[in-house]
Amino acid sequence: MQKVLILDFGGQYNQLIARRVRECNVYCEVKPYTMPMEKIREFDPIGIIFTGGPNSVYLPDSPQVDPAIFRLGVPILGICYGCQLMAHTLGGQVTAAQADTAREYGKTETVYDTTCPLFHSLPEKGISWMSHGDFMAKVPAGFALVGHTAACPNVAIADEARGFYGVQFHPEVNHTENGTAMLRNFLYRVCHAQGDWTMGDFCKSTVADLQAKIGSKGRVLLALSGGVDSSVLAALLAEAVGDRLTCVFVDHGLMRKNEGDEVEAAFAKWDIHFVRVNAEDRFLSKLAGVTDPETKRKIIGAEFGYVFLDEALKFGITKEDFFAQGTIYPDVIESGMGEADTIKSHHNRLLPPEVIAQFKAVLEPLDHLFKDEIRALGRELGLPEYLVMRQPFPGPGLAIRIIGQVTKEKADTLREADWIYRAEIAQAGVDKQLSQYFAVLTDTRSVGVMGDGRTYGYTLALRAVNTSDFMTADWARIPYELLDKISTRIVNEVPGINRIVYDITSKPPATIEWE
Ligand code: XMP
Repeated sequence: MQKVLILDFGGQYNQLIARRVRECNVYCEVKPYTMPMEKIREFDPIGIIFTGGPNSVYLPDSPQVDPAIFRLGVPILGICYGCQLMAHTLGGQVTAAQADTAREYGKTETVYDTTCPLFHSLPEKGISWMSHGDFMAKVPAGFALVGHTAACPNVAIADEARGFYGVQFHPEVNHTENGTAMLRNFLYRVCHAQGDWTMGDFCKSTVADLQAKIGSKGRVLLALSGGVDSSVLAALLAEAVGDRLTCVFVDHGLMRKNEGDEVEAAFAKWDIHFVRVNAEDRFLSKLAGVTDPETKRKIIGAEFGYVFLDEALKFGITKEDFFAQGTIYPDVIESGMGEADTIKSHHNRLLPPEVIAQFKAVLEPLDHLFKDEIRALGRELGLPEYLVMRQPFPGPGLAIRIIGQVTKEKADTLREADWIYRAEIAQAGVDKQLSQYFAVLTDTRSVGVMGDGRTYGYTLALRAVNTSDFMTADWARIPYELLDKISTRIVNEVPGINRIVYDITSKPPATIEWE
């Protein structure tokens, strides 16, 4: 199988580059830029991509590459920092851009030379997403300028003879028009990719890796929530180790209405060991009086680990056994990784070390995939469509949809309201058009009038978003009439709620969940 090597220089979008390459049906791996030359030779890539990164290439401590990489005879695409690094290493000159010349951030109109293989068959003009404060004052010998903007004469450079290409912008992000087509051009026109990689291959190689890691005796305990990610992982592990897999569903009492029973019923049909642990009291007592979102997340993450471990000890785990969870890439990146800021700690990143220490290792084979890739993998594994297309539900459950203190009473109120919201959305047939929708019980109370009496009830917020990867999202334009119907029903049927608002913020600047 042909392989592309992505050398990571610390940029924000590195996994997105990998994902775009996979979308083009080409196998790739992201490796640190420090990968030694002999390992690169062994890897035998058909092409190499240098990612972006936060540094300035001309500063003494910034990441560099061994110049021998340019003598491998392998095509290279440099993106942003990667482009500047290529220029710097091959004899060009990179400097800090003057404010009014070539420093560029955000959407920028760009003109391309469509005779260059990178831009073959693409429109001559388009928006590209820039994020660079440095400027290539001198382009190395042999390179042509193949893209420019009003401010910058050389946002794309190419040395076709050697197969070296550099772009100052980010083709991997959605904001760059035809960005994926540019990467496809690099892969197919420059690296001569044959498109020999599929999700089926990923599935086979992941099963083989899991088998090698787990060995012929190790058992696996999987933290199953019934959501897409852990269900897909359950299917993958069942394929890898058969009946040495046990799925443990920890019901923290903060699931949606009827959900615990539905998960149990769904998995009862599978030919796997399934255990449900009802732990509502444990979680609610730990959460009593807590209002801070990150503290709630940390308490739930830790308690989840302890409940899981109690079950595992009952089960008689040994140090030869593994703990698996369906962590996916957004969980990793949003919980803060390397230089990235912690947006919110996803529950599966909060396991207490003493819990982890009881197992041989933690298995998280999906932690580089995005949600829609997980779904494609689920289909590959033959999971039913209703499971594959389930909307995500966060590990900490309703605790992060109840603003302020979490109590059983509030959870019950939210469950009823959320159930009406979901029922109406489904009945109107709008559910298929939404990526995720749910209700949030705010901590705000306001005055209302019902019948002839005054009420002082909670405000409920409705949220609905559309997104493909859950890293960014747009708020959904649900018809007013439907919102009206939902609002009327909830206020009439759910005691304690007397006002409904609809959340019209996208991500960014908001996030999908409220906490
Ligand atoms: P945010 O709120 O960060 O959410 O925009 C992005 C997606 O992740 C889900 N989410 C979680 N999933 N554990 C999970 O498994 C968590 O702790 C968690 N927090 C948020 C959220 O529902 C959305 O789909």
